Amino acid sequence: MKKFYITTAIDYANGAPHLGHAYEKILTDVIARHRRLKGEPVHFLTGLDEHGQKVQQTARARGIEPIELCDEADVAFRGLCERLSISNDDFIRTTEERHKKVVCSLLQQLYDEGQIYKADYTGYYSTRAEQFLQEKDKVNGEWPSGFGEVVEITESNYFFKLSQYQEWLIGHVQAHDEFIFPRFRQKQVLEFLKEPINDLCISRPRERLSWGIPLPFDEDYVTYVWFDALVNYISAVGYGEERFKECWPVDFHVIGKDILVPPHAVYWPIMLKACGIELPKSLLVHGWWLRSGEKMAKSTGNVVSPLDLIDQFGTDAFRYFVTREMNVGQDSDFSIELFLSRYNSDLANDLGNLVSRTLNMASRYAGSTVPAFAVEEEPEKELRALWKETRGAALECYDGIQFHLALDRIFTFIRGINRYAETRAPWKLAKSEDPEDRARLETALATMAEGVRLAVTLAAPVMPDLETRVRALLGCGETDTWEGELNWSETLVGKTLSAPVILFPRPTSE
Ligand code: ME8
Ligand code: MG
Repeated sequence: MKKFYITTAIDYANGAPHLGHAYEKILTDVIARHRRLKGEPVHFLTGLDEHGQKVQQTARARGIEPIELCDEADVAFRGLCERLSISNDDFIRTTEERHKKVVCSLLQQLYDEGQIYKADYTGYYSTRAEQFLQEKDKVNGEWPSGFGEVVEITESNYFFKLSQYQEWLIGHVQAHDEFIFPRFRQKQVLEFLKEPINDLCISRPRERLSWGIPLPFDEDYVTYVWFDALVNYISAVGYGEERFKECWPVDFHVIGKDILVPPHAVYWPIMLKACGIELPKSLLVHGWWLRSGEKMAKSTGNVVSPLDLIDQFGTDAFRYFVTREMNVGQDSDFSIELFLSRYNSDLANDLGNLVSRTLNMASRYAGSTVPAFAVEEEPEKELRALWKETRGAALECYDGIQFHLALDRIFTFIRGINRYAETRAPWKLAKSEDPEDRARLETALATMAEGVRLAVTLAAPVMPDLETRVRALLGCGETDTWEGELNWSETLVGKTLSAPVILFPRPTSE
């Protein structure tokens, strides 16, 4: 059976992981976990992009070998995945043999078929972007500062016949609405393809760049970064081997909007087409995290990094925040104020309080054993109806990659359980001598516990550790499938609940 195959971009080994990298991994992880819970076999790949000029330069400046720098990045990025509870099945490094082998075989194939040729090229080159620039890259007649130093150089290089596939690619993009998500980014790709595209320079002379994969047909050159990096998506899943078809074609390449055009929407489909390999089903393009809070942090001398946030508030809170705030495809502003407000109101107040009062009341009024549902009156009916509505809407949002809205629905349900508790007021029922009130009290305790179980189970793709932890507090085991788990049930009846805990402690203010 073909697996649902999903990838992140592979991060440059040149810098430390930041919020953008963390977000992309979480977004991809939410999708992977969602699919697994639905019962699909999943293969989730992430990794490191290790070759290129920047790695070479940084290593040289530090007086170490490039591979040492990459080994450090490997520790940092794998560590990030762990801290974020990312459930990737594989982690590829482009310096691995399994990757280099596939890059060389594709290059050799294209060279043998005459799709790669050698030519002189004179042009403006950005060392920072590691690419030749064109006039149209200028803004108001100047090279944007993002390109760093721009110099004119002439050199002999190898080129891949990209341009001959332009018309074909336009047709493919137009015929496949699902190729780029969200849809509005398709326009950007077609806009880019209105201008004639150039053949792609796929090599760098070795004297200028030695930290790369040597061309199999000319040892004086190494492979240009994109032709190397993009291939990770197939080298990692055994291109050329029988197992390749378990994963390929990929279901989603998750990437940021900066690397859609041209690398993922132009180079990659054409490389695959030229090699006779099926195209990706979909590119999932997310926006950027902007940091307007930075200024405020600086003025107070209090700079907060994403990893610090995890240290302070935990992995689930961080995953919740970025997923709740980002409408996939749009940009989003990061600020510590917003983070604290989400943490305090949604997590500590709505969810954390609900869990602790549920455990508390069960301990106080029922010896911590979940009683049976004894009555079903208006408050119970309302809450069950709200659950049904929530489940339907949230599942639809999950399917449509609208995770911020899925969470919104789930937290509306959580607030609904809190309202239910207020309405039922178990602390009042407990004082009554009336046996009907006793039945209502027991029902209320069972209802709150079941509501909590359903809410955290439905939020599991976003907050997997929380789900495991809360289910354990409720006396029900971990689950790796949603099958039968999202129905209002009596599974908790008779279970022993743990003593009350505080899931999201209030941050200690400075
Ligand atoms: O581009 N907000 O690596 P990279 C959201 N090695 N996402 C962001 C972001 C931000 N502020 N900053 C970066 C590369 N990203 C190449 C990819 S793939 C074959 C090779 C995202 O480390 C960015 O959009 O610069 C990209 O998807 C990923 O982080 C890695 O960026
Ligand atoms: Mg980048």
